[in-house]
Amino acid sequence: MGRLLSSLFFLSSLSLALLPLPAAALPLSTDSRWIVDETGRRVKLACVNWASHLETVVAEGLSKQPLDLISKQIGAMGFNCVRFTWPLFLATNESLANLTVRKSFTRLGLTESLAGFQANNPSLIDLSLIDACQVLSLS
Ligand SMILES: *[C@@H]1O[C@H](CO)[C@@H](O)[C@H](O)[C@H]1NC(C)=O
Ligand SMILES: *[C@@H]1O[C@H](CO)[C@@H](O)[C@H](O)[C@H]1NC(C)=O
Repeated sequence: MGRLLSSLFFLSSLSLALLPLPAAALPLSTDSRWIVDETGRRVKLACVNWASHLETVVAEGLSKQPLDLISKQIGAMGFNCVRFTWPLFLATNESLANLTVRKSFTRLGLTESLAGFQANNPSLIDLSLIDACQVLSLS
């Protein structure tokens, strides 16, 4: 799965975050055209898009609800995978990648959203945008 995940991450500015797959034994890999678990059993991914490529360069909605709650709701809706969209600038512009989440919201004048983010996801707010992206991809 690691190889699959990283090639998607770098080739298409998408990253996949896998929610716990109840019956699947990780890591995932490929067998011909199929994605299979550690025991060779076929795994079907049911993915939902989560936009992280808009101006703040952070997954949308984190100023409204805690990350754990959003992840649980996605799982409860029957999805087992999240496709994060993110801007390629995050990989090519170190100044942008180094901005903190707090600074990204502040420079856009999003004070109300910043307060919501602080209340709902305080552990992410002072991470750099690239670190926040990695934390979200792995959670
Ligand atoms: C970005 O942060 C890294 C790690 O802290 C640092 O090495 C690098 O010099 C910074 N780059 C810029 C352009 O701020
Ligand atoms: C890199 O990002 C910074 C911060 O968003 C921005 O000010 C700068 O113009 C960007 N540089 C390029 C070459 O896009």
